[in-house]
Amino acid sequence: MNVMVTGAAGYIGSHCVRALLDEGHRVLAVDDLSHGFVEAVDSRAELVVCGIENSAVIEKAIERFGVETVIHFAACIEVGESVAVPDKYYRNNFSNALSLLDSMHRQGVRKIVFSSTAAVYGDLRVPRISESQPRCPINPYGRSKLMVEWALEDYARANRLGFIAFRYFNVAGAHVSGLLGEAHQPETHLLPRILSVAAGQSPEASIFGCDYPTPDGTCIRDYVHVEDLAEAHVLAMGAIRVGKGAFYNLGSECGFSVRQVIDACGEVTGVPIPTKVLARRDGDPAVLVADSSSARNELKWRPIRTQLRRIVTDAWRWHTLHPTGYTKLSAELPAGRISCQ
Ligand code: UFG
Repeated sequence: MNVMVTGAAGYIGSHCVRALLDEGHRVLAVDDLSHGFVEAVDSRAELVVCGIENSAVIEKAIERFGVETVIHFAACIEVGESVAVPDKYYRNNFSNALSLLDSMHRQGVRKIVFSSTAAVYGDLRVPRISESQPRCPINPYGRSKLMVEWALEDYARANRLGFIAFRYFNVAGAHVSGLLGEAHQPETHLLPRILSVAAGQSPEASIFGCDYPTPDGTCIRDYVHVEDLAEAHVLAMGAIRVGKGAFYNLGSECGFSVRQVIDACGEVTGVPIPTKVLARRDGDPAVLVADSSSARNELKWRPIRTQLRRIVTDAWRWHTLHPTGYTKLSAELPAGRISCQ
């Protein structure tokens, strides 16, 4: 299939591009490189550097490549930042997604996989969250993603498209090859921040709040291996039906507290991790753990790499091989990789 992947140079997008190519799909990678890295985009993909709101370039690329399905990752992803700068989230995550949907409509592309988030559920306080739980996001990030979910539902009802929306829980780990991994700037996510302490790049791991209603007082999250997550998108390729939409949680169904993740990092790296307790971070729910039985049953998703120890081991391999993340500049890459017209 001919697939356009937006946000293809980002952490999850780059793993997904590789998984699609490995399964024989053709990939048109789109990224504005505001946060992604050229080096992360598999050289078998064609890369177009532009924002998804740039309808003229996007539509020309869709037509030329013969795009049949879009996988839409491009978005802002930081919960804390979304509270401080909500306009950035509504513009990038919602308004630009509508622009992409318009471009798809004009070009006759009627299938989309949307990367949504567990943040659409808010602070539900249930042991495991299923897709039928109410969506009550507690931060602008979650609300901006929920608005796209609503639009997709309405567009599918109007028979304009078919979609699968994946609600990711906490994506972590790295490609087993050590060639792809997590490299956000700034890095706000728990696991890479702890590993930077193990690598001697930061003095101590920060714990944002130790007075949550959880057994050790720190937030509980459900960590899913990024390669397993990417595989779900490959499975989605054959499952979308125009006029229909489906939501699937992607998670491990196991919760780990911040302190448990720090302990796991200490065990895998063999380095003691000093910690410092700070105030709660705005917008954080206490517990987010998935019921992902629908993805397992309906898409036959098998998250075989999703165990905390494996996730930390793969992330640590990436971190030790790439202590400063991706390093090459676009200018150093082979000519012809990037088309910006
Ligand atoms: N945390 C710390 N110290 C840190 C970093 C994070 O204690 O240095 C805590 C956070 O407060 C939170 C937990 O670790 O309780 C996980 O934080 P992350 O920033 O790693 O991830 P989030 O849960 O905030 O968000 C991630 C994705 C979202 C997605 C969400 C779904 O970034 O896109 O998981 O669970 F919506």
